[in-house]
Amino acid sequence: MCGIVGYAGYGDAKTFLLSALHDLEYRGYDSAGIAAIKGNGITTIKRAGRVSALEETINGQFGQATTGIGHTRWATHGAPTDTNAHPHLSYDGKVAIAHNGIIENHGRLRAKLEADGIEFASDTDSEVVAHLIARHMQAGDSLLSATKKASRRLKGLSVILAISADEPDAVVGIRIGYAGSLMLGKSGDGWILASNAAAMPRDVNEVVHVDHCEAVRISPDDAMIVDVAGKLVEKEPVKLLPGSRISEINEHAHFMHKEISEQAAAVQGAMRGRVDFSDMRIDIPELDMLPAKLDRIVLAGMGTSHFAGMAGARRIERLARIPTSIEYAGELADRDPVMGERDLLVAVTQSGETYDTLVAIEKAKSVGSTVAVVTANVHSEASRIADVAVDIGSGVEVAVPATKTFINTMLVLYMIGLQLGRDAGRLSDAEFERHIESIVSLPGAINRTLGQEAEIEALARERFDGVTNMLILGRGDLYPVALEGALKMKETAYIHAEGCSASEMKHGINALVEPSTPTIALVPKNGELRTKMLTSIYEVQSRSGEVIAVAHEGDIEVEAIADGLIPIASEDEEHSPFLMTIPLQQLAYHTALARGIDPDRPRNLAKTVTVA
Ligand code: G6P
Repeated sequence: MCGIVGYAGYGDAKTFLLSALHDLEYRGYDSAGIAAIKGNGITTIKRAGRVSALEETINGQFGQATTGIGHTRWATHGAPTDTNAHPHLSYDGKVAIAHNGIIENHGRLRAKLEADGIEFASDTDSEVVAHLIARHMQAGDSLLSATKKASRRLKGLSVILAISADEPDAVVGIRIGYAGSLMLGKSGDGWILASNAAAMPRDVNEVVHVDHCEAVRISPDDAMIVDVAGKLVEKEPVKLLPGSRISEINEHAHFMHKEISEQAAAVQGAMRGRVDFSDMRIDIPELDMLPAKLDRIVLAGMGTSHFAGMAGARRIERLARIPTSIEYAGELADRDPVMGERDLLVAVTQSGETYDTLVAIEKAKSVGSTVAVVTANVHSEASRIADVAVDIGSGVEVAVPATKTFINTMLVLYMIGLQLGRDAGRLSDAEFERHIESIVSLPGAINRTLGQEAEIEALARERFDGVTNMLILGRGDLYPVALEGALKMKETAYIHAEGCSASEMKHGINALVEPSTPTIALVPKNGELRTKMLTSIYEVQSRSGEVIAVAHEGDIEVEAIADGLIPIASEDEEHSPFLMTIPLQQLAYHTALARGIDPDRPRNLAKTVTVA
């Protein structure tokens, strides 16, 4: 949560910082601000709202400033107002800071500073840092030393950037624990510190990660990282992969639309170099680093990643015949799980930065379990602390509602299940080949299913625009899809949607059925679960509920029963979770538009959740 960026160089700081803030806005977008050294002092401009609102108010006020910091906020303490926006200035106006994280003892620190006569301008926990640094600098410390000293007084996890009028060409950063990443990059005209590689200019090809308890100082010609003892830390830079940067939105009105539309290409990214159709092979080389004998696999993630993990857990268990379960990473982190050396934790996190997922990883590592991360960001903290990182191959996702990363994560977990099952001799050649054929034909089926967007758009406008409550029913492999579909409707269109296992209907949820609450039923092509789902449809309809079914194309039986039908363009049952997700994503997107919501930036949310 929150994006921070600092620049010290020879170029125009404001232009760089604004562009970087646009790229970091997915991390928080309730307010934004920039502080830069101008003349002998610091100029700070901050605004509630988006980075574009900040941009409109700048009007040349930074002059030719070449040193500065920027921040885009997701509020934790204090409403999203101009004053609570970062950066915050110290009482003497000489220090400005941008902060990501939570200062748990801010109340105490504030009370002490106020008792000393310092007046606070904001309601934030962060402002104390500016005053503490200024006090140390007044006592003779350098910006680096003052920032280190100030940070020792903070409880909680923080990443801080600071500038000072007394060291006009420097930016200092410090990281205490994990509150988002901090990375260092060198561009043609200066040094950069930022929360994410997405903010690095195009000419930055490698970065250095700033770790826990490390501080960094950049100036136009120099950058140094020091540890707590003040010792210089030498580190190898990490090459940035091509997918690390935010791509252009092109002809799409929103990133969410772009990311839904590019899912056929995204899944090809997951398969590239791993699935060999001519040879009937799946090879994810990272899996070779896992212990040969695993007693149990536990998957953990949050939000959409949790639901992708749930879908993956079912497939892995079925294919590899290893007991596999899924948990919310936050819940796993909060308890004392019985896990050991023969257990594998698969942490599912597109950003690789989710706080709860990182804590779950630490917990699993502390009891000797192996940790694999399935992620879209192999530069992330999660990838760095895990034993193995598997790239989902989707590239960066920008819209807060996750779409392509859901599909890609499900696919990569499916492939992991196949490889583990194959290696353990649990899958026959015929079964294995059938799965490979399903995987290889997935991009085409995704593209065909995407082609019904106009019909889904009409459904969104005509039926879902005015809906307050709705149900999405699934069973088996389609249960996680129902949960994910409901999450999409909640976070994107602000509709209260319950994703349910149809098996649960009689245990309470049936009481919610009424004409104004539409039900979407995800219907499998064959088998017992299909029969059960058809029964559920009848039961909802018997209670005056309207049912729109999502089913395989050509399913005339479902077409005859349901009040509406959304077909998916495949006969292959292995495709169902992937393809049934697509109309639910499109429905959430178009319902959001019909209701006047910006789907890329829903209220109160952020793409990267780096606090507890
Ligand atoms: C936030 C995002 C979701 C994401 C979840 C978990 O809530 O808005 O899109 O699914 O965090 O994030 P992760 O990066 O761990 O997948």
